[in-house]
Amino acid sequence: MTLTPELRNSRFFKACRQEPVDTTPVWIMRQAGRYLPEYMAVRSKVKFIELCKTPQLAAEVTLTAQRVLGVDAAILFADLLPILEPMGLNLEYAAGEGPVIHNPVKTAGEVDRVRELETVESLSYVYDAVRIIRRELPPNIPLIGFAGAPFTLASYVIEGGSSKNYIHTKTLMYTDPGAWRTLMQRLAGSLGRYLQAQVAAGCQVIQLFDSWAGCLSPADYREYVLPYTRQVIQSVPPEVPVINFLTGNPALLPLCRDAGGDVIGLDWRVDLKTGWAAVGPTRGVQGNLDPITLYADLPTIRRRANDVLLAAEGRPGHIFNLGHGVTPDVPHQNVKALVQMVHELGAGKTTA
Ligand code: CP3
Repeated sequence: MTLTPELRNSRFFKACRQEPVDTTPVWIMRQAGRYLPEYMAVRSKVKFIELCKTPQLAAEVTLTAQRVLGVDAAILFADLLPILEPMGLNLEYAAGEGPVIHNPVKTAGEVDRVRELETVESLSYVYDAVRIIRRELPPNIPLIGFAGAPFTLASYVIEGGSSKNYIHTKTLMYTDPGAWRTLMQRLAGSLGRYLQAQVAAGCQVIQLFDSWAGCLSPADYREYVLPYTRQVIQSVPPEVPVINFLTGNPALLPLCRDAGGDVIGLDWRVDLKTGWAAVGPTRGVQGNLDPITLYADLPTIRRRANDVLLAAEGRPGHIFNLGHGVTPDVPHQNVKALVQMVHELGAGKTTA
């Protein structure tokens, strides 16, 4: 990947390299989502999966969110789960229910029907969207590509949807380590190629979402998850910054760092200063305002955003974000106001 000087010198890239910035860069996880009237207008005409598979529309949604929010990065409009379709899983986004997999892997013997993707051409609609977005984005705004981490995807493959206790996933992991390894290797190999193709098409940054890994103990994360997440991160070209994000369990932060990533995502369950100390000084951090803060009045949002910035102490390497994705019914004006507040209050300006 050859970076233009505009991108190399952007706030976002400087923060990824832990260099000083004029103000703290900010973007919002799930920024192109249902809270945004412009998204709902597009979404009212097509189903979610069609939106993902129509590059022109996916690109429009990504570009609009970046422009109306004034954020320092755009994120590809796609989803964690469509990669599972060519791997042999039958995915549906059922209205009001979230994603459902109709043929989940319920026993160790069934792992063999999950195919590793030796090529990732079947996801060409994603790379087509990336090419359109990169062409249209302002030259100093990086495009973040992403994928689910192997554990989070394995939990969908096995549970067939979201889960409270991950009973089937953990039972397979605890009782049949060989089948678990096979599944995680197939996911990790496929994900590595998928991310390489996103980068080849024009993404400059990668975020890995391990949204459900917080349900694991540190010992289980280390043994059953970390090697595969590491494999995926190592398959990303070394010049591309990786944001490694997991949520729900700050005790996993040192292991998340060991799995890799230039920037480690923090959720709000840990104070940013404490979280950064757990990650150590060699990496940047991203986060970590509680997304529910966005339902409050503007002075409250401002005070709490400033608390996050104060906890970062103006140290180079902080990317401001929520601690998890923005919720679908939050007032969109508050999200826009938050971005402005961070730019006003961020590092390099007022930190007191
Ligand atoms: O950040 C962005 O704006 C880019 C797009 C993006 C989506 N999903 C679009 C989406 C990203 C990065 C994701 C990631 C994702 N997808 C995660 C990780 C999220 C995190 O914060 O940890 C997960 C677990 C999924 C799987 C998924 N997709 C779920 C559970 C759901 C339904 C739940 C819900 O929010 O309704 C989706 C659907 C989905 N993905 C929507 C969007 C905008 C809503 C679909 C709609 O328009 O109806």
